[in-house]
Amino acid sequence: MSLNMNVSSSEPSWAAQAHAQLASPSRLILLFVVNIPLIAVVFNVLYQLVMPRDRTVPPVVFHLIPWFGSAAAYGGDPVEFFKSCREKYGNVFTFILLGKRVTVALGPQGNDFVFGGKHTVIAAEDVYQHLTTPVFGKDVVYDVPNEVLMEQKKFVKVSLTVEKFREYVGMIEEEMTEFMKGDPAFLIWQMKDINEWGTFDAYKTLAEMTILTAARTLLGREVRESLDKGFADLYSDLDHGMTPLHWMFSDLPLPSYRKRDAAHQKISGFYQSILQKRKRQESEYEDDVMGSLMKQQYRDGRALQDHEIAHILIALLMAGQHTSSSSTSWALLHLADRPDVADALYQEQVEHFGTPDGGLRDMTYEEMRKLPILDAVIRETLRMHTPIHSIMRQVRSDITVPPTLGAPSEDNVYVVPKGHIVLASPALSQMDPKIWKDADKWDPSRWYDADGFAAQAHRQYDEDGKVDFIFSKGTGSPYLPFGAGRHRCIGEQFATLQIGVIISTFVRKIEMRLDQPFPKPDYASMMVIPLRPCQILYRRRKFD
Ligand code: HEM
Repeated sequence: MSLNMNVSSSEPSWAAQAHAQLASPSRLILLFVVNIPLIAVVFNVLYQLVMPRDRTVPPVVFHLIPWFGSAAAYGGDPVEFFKSCREKYGNVFTFILLGKRVTVALGPQGNDFVFGGKHTVIAAEDVYQHLTTPVFGKDVVYDVPNEVLMEQKKFVKVSLTVEKFREYVGMIEEEMTEFMKGDPAFLIWQMKDINEWGTFDAYKTLAEMTILTAARTLLGREVRESLDKGFADLYSDLDHGMTPLHWMFSDLPLPSYRKRDAAHQKISGFYQSILQKRKRQESEYEDDVMGSLMKQQYRDGRALQDHEIAHILIALLMAGQHTSSSSTSWALLHLADRPDVADALYQEQVEHFGTPDGGLRDMTYEEMRKLPILDAVIRETLRMHTPIHSIMRQVRSDITVPPTLGAPSEDNVYVVPKGHIVLASPALSQMDPKIWKDADKWDPSRWYDADGFAAQAHRQYDEDGKVDFIFSKGTGSPYLPFGAGRHRCIGEQFATLQIGVIISTFVRKIEMRLDQPFPKPDYASMMVIPLRPCQILYRRRKFD
């Protein structure tokens, strides 16, 4: 019995038909086109396996899909990705990220390589400008030559004085208390006589508190007073314009891009209108960052223009928002998980600020700087949860990798070619078990305990008369949550103050517990924030 028994013998068989169809040239072309991705993958794999490797450039991380490269592994969990690559390739390797070649330099020497590089050879603005200019605006930060950015950073730095920090302590505490009085999540705290547990979302709460406290302190009275729902929405639109997608493509016909641009226009216009009012003396003069910027001049004698001041203020708000809010969220989550450390913090408060009637008096800036447990909680949180996992620069001309960082052989060196991006990740050196005892454990005592690791390292380096590598601001330190070199953070003192007051105020007012697994990091945005759910249980303290 044949397969085509029902088909008349004059008609071609099904096999013949199929053969004829397959053989037609248009079919062949179609088949080829449909299979291009597969062919590209096969060629890409063969190329990596068979072709002899250029030994003068760092090894390339094996990947299946050309152009896309290791985007999924890096985007999903950059820290794990770097760790697994370090095991296979050492401290220096290149990975493909959506068509870009990114050379990673790990460890303290990797930090030194990237942070300490000459800005004429490796440039931050070439990597970040297309992401930040639409958000911050023209003529500031990465939209200007590096020398101008250095001047702009100096303008801000001189406006963040100790006198201002003294005033900020009370302002931040007041903003938090007002927030807790009005926020439904803190209903249990609002009802003084109830000894029950309530719950709040750590990241949501801290994000709101951070913007309120930053606006009140850095941006001035007029901005704080206008910080209503409308402003929060505009800020959120601006914020959603700073994602990995916007870094990859600076302009796409998508709503998030349109909203980003509209929000920038409105916020910039709003700040400039305040500047105009101040200049016309319709608004009371304020000794805030805006007021300070209005008085400054570039080296050539030129005063800052209104739009430059407005854009610097936007940049400050954006630079400080997620970094501070994620740090305070992680700190509170750890304190909720370790009530013994929270108790030690509370006792520290009682010891320094306790009053005879069992209450607590106001903190002062000078006194806060002398609280070792608070200081250790902040340092340890920034060690484990440094908000910025990848710090990048564009290579403008070929650059030799120091052989001690990584080399193909004893008598040869790697060269990172012009056009690559170089990337440092202090997150790795801050969590390296070869450097830190129990690196994965959140243990503030390592910073203040006389036998703690950091204290020992500190002593050892002091005794040897060498640079103190843990506390050093040098580019080769393993602990660099605020970066190093020309692009080092100028907000460190402000952030430490803001985080310190927020943590202390919470510890004074509430006890905290965690009744969920400790949240994992969320790498979906540009910063490392806690993955939801990140709920904290709380109860009002007896003497609050
Ligand atoms: C730069 C971290 C808060 C303003 C940096 C850098 C890091 C960093 C790692 C270096 C970036 C690079 O090298 O490319 C942090 C952390 C913060 C924090 C962990 C809080 C916990 C703030 C705040 C402000 C601020 C509150 C503003 C008041 C800046 C500015 C730069 C910077 C203007 C300079 C960018 C450059 O020169 O390229 N920050 N920051 N930061 N940060 Fe912060």
